Amino acid sequence: MSKEKLIRKFDKQARLYEVRRKKKSERVWREKLISCAKGRVLEVSVGAGANFHYYSKDVQVTAIDFSPEMLNKAKQAAVEIGIQAEFIHSDVESLSFPDESFDTIVSTLSFCGYEDPQSVLGAFQKWCKRDGQILLLEHGISSNRIIGGLQTIVDPLFKKVVGCRLNRDMVQILQQSNLHINKMENYMFGAVHLVWAAPNKN
Ligand SMILES: C[S@@+](CC[C@H](N)C(=O)[O-])C[C@H]1O[C@@H](n2cnc3c(N)ncnc32)[C@H](O)[C@@H]1O
Repeated sequence: MSKEKLIRKFDKQARLYEVRRKKKSERVWREKLISCAKGRVLEVSVGAGANFHYYSKDVQVTAIDFSPEMLNKAKQAAVEIGIQAEFIHSDVESLSFPDESFDTIVSTLSFCGYEDPQSVLGAFQKWCKRDGQILLLEHGISSNRIIGGLQTIVDPLFKKVVGCRLNRDMVQILQQSNLHINKMENYMFGAVHLVWAAPNKN
């Protein structure tokens, strides 16, 4: 699917993501992870700003999304919730920042969408400060064989309708990256991962 088509698909889902933000969907996971963010924060693929409720008021967020409709919802959320945020309309996969620009990099439910997830993790390593942190809430193929099998069957339809992959092996993607994983918690039969990581800069 072309990027333009994918962007239009996410544009159409912006209202739904706003409703989910207001309902505080995934509250427990988001609160646990996002409360750890500090300093200058990069949030990639911000959607409608579902994480904004959980940032401490003293962080400065740079939020990116390639969907203009999602970005509009996220801008409204930042004003409503009162967080300091600037917004960049861009494809995360073609963006660059100077090395060591951020204290914290946040991604929630975004690795299901990238063409090359490994290269996005590589970029995080560069953009994150040496003593910074990378916080992830991602989903992927379940460690349960039956559920994983069902995810693989549904994957092509899900990709077509929603724009995301359902059966990426996030644990393998993380293991193959150069990130240092400090802690990982797995939920929903091993299909949802909360990750506290750090760049591995030798
Ligand atoms: C599944 S939603 C998750 C939104 C939000 N992070 C959350 O936790 O609710 C995926 C978001 O990533 C954005 N996205 C996907 N691929 C992207 C890319 N390559 N560059 C920028 N944004 C992207 C979509 O527009 C959408 O807002």
